[in-house]
Amino acid sequence: MQSLSNKKILLGITGGIAAYKSAELVRLLIKSGAEVRVVMTPSAQEFVQPLTYQALSGHRVYTDLFDGEADSAMDHIELARWCDLLLVAPASADFLGKMTAGYADNLLLTLCLASKQPVAVAPAMNQQMFANASTRDNINQLSSRQVLVWGPADGEQACGDIGPGRMLEPEQLLNNIAQQFRPGKLTGVKLLLTVGPTREAIDPVRYISNRSSGKMGYALAEAALREAAEVTLVSGPVSLIPPSAARLVAVESAQQMYDAVMQQVGTQDLFIACAAVSDYRVDQTAQHKLKKSADTMSLQLVPNADILTAVSALEERPFCVGFAAETRDLEKYAMQKLEKKKLDMIAANKVGDGSSGFETDFNQLEVFWRDGHHSIERASKPEIAKQLIDLIAGRYTCARS
Ligand code: PMT
Repeated sequence: MQSLSNKKILLGITGGIAAYKSAELVRLLIKSGAEVRVVMTPSAQEFVQPLTYQALSGHRVYTDLFDGEADSAMDHIELARWCDLLLVAPASADFLGKMTAGYADNLLLTLCLASKQPVAVAPAMNQQMFANASTRDNINQLSSRQVLVWGPADGEQACGDIGPGRMLEPEQLLNNIAQQFRPGKLTGVKLLLTVGPTREAIDPVRYISNRSSGKMGYALAEAALREAAEVTLVSGPVSLIPPSAARLVAVESAQQMYDAVMQQVGTQDLFIACAAVSDYRVDQTAQHKLKKSADTMSLQLVPNADILTAVSALEERPFCVGFAAETRDLEKYAMQKLEKKKLDMIAANKVGDGSSGFETDFNQLEVFWRDGHHSIERASKPEIAKQLIDLIAGRYTCARS
C-alpha cells in the first residue's frame, strides 16, 4: 500500500456512472494516510449521494458555491489553498469542456481555476464522446496547460460500447497520486536551460530570427522543476509566462545568450540547449533605420559562437544535452552533432512540416547518446518534456555514479 501520510487530496466528482468507483478511491486514499475532502458537482449528486463520500472521508462533502456554512468550514478559496493535489475523477466531457473554457459556475470548476496546486483529471465518458474532436481538443489544451490527464482506460463501458473512455481503476489513480509525491529525480541538481529564438539586429527596428516559440523549452523547465531541479532559464524573446520557480535570464541576441550561459555555467550540473540560436549575425548593425534605396540589398553575415560547443569544451563541464532540428536525415545529422559538439545526449526533432518542432503544441523526438537510442512518440510538448526529463535524469544519474 502506498503511503500518502499527511497529503491533502481534494477529490472532485462530476456526473458520470464512474462516480461510484470514486467511493473506493476515497477508501483507498484514507487507508494510505491521506486527508481527503470531496467536492461534488450538481450532476454528480444524481449518481451518488454526498452521504456516501461523507461517511468514507469522515468530512462533510462540499456541493455549493454559495455555502451558508462556509464561515464555519472552508470557502472555495480556502479549499483550493488547503489541498496538495486536486483530482477530478470522474471528469465528464461536459466538465472538461467547461474547465477548458474557464467556466466557474459551480464549486468544483471554481476550485480548478483557483488552485495553485497540481490539478489532475480522470476522464470518463462514452467512447464516441471521447473520440469527438471537441473532447480531444479540450483534453489536449488542458494537458498543454499542465493539467495532468490520467486515462481514460480502454474496455467495456456501462452503455455496452467498447473502447477508450472508462475511468482508470481506483488502484491506478491511487498509484498516480502517489507518483506525484515521490521525491524528485533531479533533487539538488542545478539545471541551466537555453530556450526560445534569438534575434540578430539588422537596424534599430529589424532583426533576423526564427520560428521558435519557446514552448518546448518552457515545458522542459516545468518538467525539471517537478523533478525538483533548480532551474535557470536563459530565454530568448518569447510570449510565454516563465515558471515562477525558475530563475529567468532574459536575452535577445545569440551573443547575449552566450554571455549569460557562460556567466552561469560554472555552478551547473546539467545543461540543456533547447534554444534555436541564430548561426549568423549581421556584421554591421545599422545605427539608424535603413532606408529603401535600391532594388536589391545585401547583408553581410558573420558566424555566431556555438554556445553548446563552448560549454561542452569546458574543463569542468556539466552533463550536456543538445537538440537537433532537422528537416531530413534526422539520425545522421543528430549523430554528427553528438560527436562534433561532444555531447552526452542529443534530442532530434523533425521540423519543417508543421506537425512537430517549431511553434506547434506537439513534438516527437529521437534521442541519441553514444551507445543508445530512445524514441519519444508524438505527444503534447509537456508530455514530451516529462519523458525527456525522465530519460535525461536516468542518463545523468548513471554518468555521475
Ligand atoms: O520553441 P519551440 O517552438 O517549442 O520549438 C522547439 C525547437 C524546435 C526550437 C527545439 O525543439 C529545438 O530543436 N531546438 C534546437 C534548434 C536548433 O537550433 O537546432 P540546431 O541543429 O541548429 O542546433 C544544434 C544545437 O546547438 C542546439 O542544441 C542549439 O541550441 C545549439 N546551438 C546552436 C547554435 C549556436 N550558436 N549555439 C548553440 O548552442
